[in-house]
Amino acid sequence: MIIAIDGTSASGKSTVAKMLAEDLNLVNLNSGNLYRALSLAVLNAGADPDSEAEIVAFVEKQDLEMDAADSICLNGKKIDLSLLRTPRIDSVSSRISFYVPVRQKVNVILRRFAQKFDVVCEGRDITSVVFPDTPHKFFIDADVNERARRRTENYNGDFNRVLEDLKKRDVEDYSKPFGALRIVEGATFINSTHKTPREVCDIIMECVGASHES
Ligand code: DC
Repeated sequence: MIIAIDGTSASGKSTVAKMLAEDLNLVNLNSGNLYRALSLAVLNAGADPDSEAEIVAFVEKQDLEMDAADSICLNGKKIDLSLLRTPRIDSVSSRISFYVPVRQKVNVILRRFAQKFDVVCEGRDITSVVFPDTPHKFFIDADVNERARRRTENYNGDFNRVLEDLKKRDVEDYSKPFGALRIVEGATFINSTHKTPREVCDIIMECVGASHES
């Protein structure tokens, strides 16, 4: 089984995917973490995120792996996922995810995983590019002010700055030449503005025909 979830930043999709993975015993594939892990490497190497040629050559040389527990290894070293949630990584990952070879590298890892395990995979192009053939497609969104409130809580940041950042990220996500965020035909749209992650998770479970026993 492949449950594919796309959605805007801070719409709650990562939390929901984690819940689904636990409830349905699926492997949780957080595609954003792979872009973020590559961004950490880019930052550490001092590579220029605005130079497509430099980033593509650099990323091609990186040995990126993900194991079943959603832990990521880069060049043989396990990455501390808590290092990946910073405004700097947000900004670099947003830029390098524009480059097609970077996207292809991430997609190969995701697809390889789904051949071996039942998965829930979330990101921006999962329903449209990575797993377009799965019947279980979902799109999660929420009002941008609510998303900024959630992100401010998580990052402990300034609300107005977070709000502006999110609006900028939305424009970038929707306008990528490849892998742009979009609602594909057949996807179930869920507005999470006034819903808890549990409520969103239950909607998805009902759609895929699974029931949650609390
Ligand atoms: O979901 P996230 O915020 O952790 O994603 C980090 C960045 O990677 C974000 O700028 C969007 C990008 N991304 C993407 O382009 N395609 C995906 N499938 C997942 C993330």
